[in-house]
Amino acid sequence: MASVKVEIGRETDTEKSEKHWFCNIKYISLVLLVLQNASLILTMRYTRTQAGKLYFSTTTVIVTEFVKMSTCLCIIFIQKGGNVKEYLNYLWHGIVTEARDTFKLAIPSGIYTIQNNLLFVAVSNLSAATFQVSYQLKILTTALFCVLLLGKRLVKMQWLALLLLFVGVAIVQIQPSDPTKAAQEKTSQSQSAYTGMVAVLVSCISSGFAGVYFEKILKGSSASLWLRNVQLGLFGVFFGLIGMWMKDGDDIMEKGFFFGYTKYVWTVIGLQAFGGLLVAVVVKYADNILKGFATSLSIIISTVVSVYLFGFT
Ligand code: C5P
Repeated sequence: MASVKVEIGRETDTEKSEKHWFCNIKYISLVLLVLQNASLILTMRYTRTQAGKLYFSTTTVIVTEFVKMSTCLCIIFIQKGGNVKEYLNYLWHGIVTEARDTFKLAIPSGIYTIQNNLLFVAVSNLSAATFQVSYQLKILTTALFCVLLLGKRLVKMQWLALLLLFVGVAIVQIQPSDPTKAAQEKTSQSQSAYTGMVAVLVSCISSGFAGVYFEKILKGSSASLWLRNVQLGLFGVFFGLIGMWMKDGDDIMEKGFFFGYTKYVWTVIGLQAFGGLLVAVVVKYADNILKGFATSLSIIISTVVSVYLFGFT
C-alpha cells in the first residue's frame, strides 16, 4: 500500500514538471513570436524600400520553405539518434505510406504560399505600422474559423474584444484630414495603398483559415510537429515554384534566382523561417487566438521603431 502511495506521489511530481515544461515552452515561444514579428516586418519593409537592385520576393518564399523544411529534417535526424536507417524508415512511413495525411497538408500549404507572397505586396505598399495594425484583423478571422471549424465557443467578453479590434483597425484606415496633403497623396499613393489593403485583407482570411486548419490537423493526430512541417514544406516549395514561374519566370531567367540578394534579404529569410517554426510550436502548445493577441504586441514595437527608422508619423 505504502509503495502504491509513493508511486502515485512520484507520478504527480512528473506530471507537475511536465506541466511546468509545457507552460514554459508556451510562453517562451509566444514572447519569441512577438520579437520575431516586429523585426520581420521592419526588415521586410526596409528591403522593399531601398534604392538599387530589388530582389524577387517570390524566390525568398521558396528559399524560406526550403530552410524550414531542412531544419525540421535535421531535428528529426537528431531525434532518431543519428540512425540513418531508422530516420529514412520514419520519413518513408510518415510521408509516403501515410500519403493521405500528407496530402491533407497541401491545403494549408497552398494557402500559406499565396499569403506569404501577398505579404510582400502589402509591406511594399503600406507603412510598417499601418500594415501591422490592419493585419491584426486576422485575429477576428481566426476566431470565426475556430468557431466554425473547431466548434470553439467564445464568451461575450471575447466577442466584445474582437469588436473593439475591428473598430481600432477601421480607425487606422481613416486618411489625414488635411485636404492639400490628402490631394497630394491621392495621385501618388492611393492606388498602391488600395493594393496593399486588398493584399492584407486576403492575407487575414487566409491566415485565419490556414492556421485553424493546421491546428485541427496537428491536434487531431499523433504525428510529430516536425514531420507535419516537412510535409507542409514539400508542398510549400512546389507551390512556391509555380508562383515564381507565373509571376517572375521570365525576369528570373534573365537576371538569376538570387538577383538582388543582400545580407538583409537573407535576414528576412532567416526571420521568416524561424517565425514559421515558432508559429507551429505556438499552435501546438497554445492556440491560434492566443498567437494572434501575442503578435498584436509587436505592433507597439514596430510602430515605435518605424518612427525612428522610417520617419513615420
Ligand atoms: O500571419 P500568420 O500567423 O498566419 O503567419 C503564419 C506563417 O507561419 C506563414 O508564413 C506560414 O508559412 C508559417 N507557418 C509555418 N509552419 C506552420 C504554420 C505556419 O511555416 N506549421
